[in-house]
Amino acid sequence: MKLWGGRFSKETASLVDQFNASIGFDQKLYKVDIMGSIAHAKMLGKSQIITLAEAQKIIEGLQSILENIENGQIEFQLAYEDIHMNIEKLLTDKIGDTGKKLHTARSRNDQVAVDIRLYLREEIDCICGLLKNLLISLTDLAASHIETVMPGYTHLQRAQPITFGYHMMAYFQMFKRDYERLQDCYKRVNIMPLGAGALAGTTYGTDRDFLTEELGFSAYCDNSLDAVSDRDFIIEFISDASMVMMHLSRFCEELILWSSAEFQFVEMDDAYSTGSSIMPQKKNPDVAELIRGKTGRIYGNLTNILTIMKALPLAYNKDMQEDKPPLFDTVENLKDCLEIFTAMITTMKIRKDKMKKATREGFMNATDVADYLVKKGLPFRSAHEVVGKMVLYCIQEQKAIEDLTIEEFQSFSPDFTEDIFPVITPEHCIASKVSKGSTAPENVKIMIEKAKRYTSVL
Ligand code: ARG
Repeated sequence: MKLWGGRFSKETASLVDQFNASIGFDQKLYKVDIMGSIAHAKMLGKSQIITLAEAQKIIEGLQSILENIENGQIEFQLAYEDIHMNIEKLLTDKIGDTGKKLHTARSRNDQVAVDIRLYLREEIDCICGLLKNLLISLTDLAASHIETVMPGYTHLQRAQPITFGYHMMAYFQMFKRDYERLQDCYKRVNIMPLGAGALAGTTYGTDRDFLTEELGFSAYCDNSLDAVSDRDFIIEFISDASMVMMHLSRFCEELILWSSAEFQFVEMDDAYSTGSSIMPQKKNPDVAELIRGKTGRIYGNLTNILTIMKALPLAYNKDMQEDKPPLFDTVENLKDCLEIFTAMITTMKIRKDKMKKATREGFMNATDVADYLVKKGLPFRSAHEVVGKMVLYCIQEQKAIEDLTIEEFQSFSPDFTEDIFPVITPEHCIASKVSKGSTAPENVKIMIEKAKRYTSVL
């Protein structure tokens, strides 16, 4: 008979058993479910809702079930629907009727809520650890390339020279914000729903302060109806995960471009590339492409959970069982992506020569030429026009600005003197960006120092 079978006079259709069951995916929660149940049993004993001896018997039973599961000795049963009832059944099989007292003053509604929160708390810690590794790798990479010149782009058109270290530190900022978003999300995950019962609270003197303390939560949910209805923290987590994926995906897109013959700025290590089954010469950036692709999957998970929760009346509805597949999928894929991405960027080869060559094409020093004229007294808009005309001339003559003779320079403006040449090299264009937070090596060094201090205390 079903654990809830008392009021039924007929078995459920086997199709319904299969359709209703979540054990296929929620068995992942076995450890946190047992952790929550042990705390609950302790609380029941301590509050004299059951005897201390009964509590002890339940706790020992649960501990040995945990061992059995970890040793692969347990096969969960579809007939018991979900991880909560599977474990309760294993417990009563093991310790007899005392096991039936575990569910006193508890509902699966507060039980599943505490399980997901315990699970997600641990996973956020793990993801933050992976983000920290990525932040450190980016800082190290930047530190080795403070002077590595590369083209900076807007509209994917060459814009102004920057350094590779500066580019890496831009990604540092994005992942730092992601890290902080997840830390902030953790605060709302780390609230304890047990004691809410099905929706209204319980008739027992459940000690919610004890449960909060015992399970390491920062507080308990203030309203029990909200405690069992709330999945905001999952939505928030997947939203934060989507942001991480969006950043990874932008980075991957750049790496894919940079790996092409047209750019050749980087070369992926063979260990992080794959070949083609037909074209023998191919070396493909599949890892970066797959991370870019999986971003869509995580966005899908976000839409999935948002849509599940939309318009659900209070409190628990079975729809909410569907929260787990998108959550688990997001956690697993995000962890995989972060780990492999970090390994990929720390092993790739940076082609300084190719980046430097690309920086010499595309009139990337045009703004610096205009700034030169401004310093000689021309209003910026007029200087912009003069240099625009110079660029047009250079395109016709197939020359770079720095290839023009001083006479050619002066034909556009009498303000040009020989001192124009040293100020329009890529290195000088970069070094002369004196504003705080710029690409100049001095400023990138400051960013790196700040970054090192930041990650050292994470
Ligand atoms: N397997 C269910 C879930 O994941 C557990 C909660 C069930 N509660 C209930 N009242 N049917 O949502």
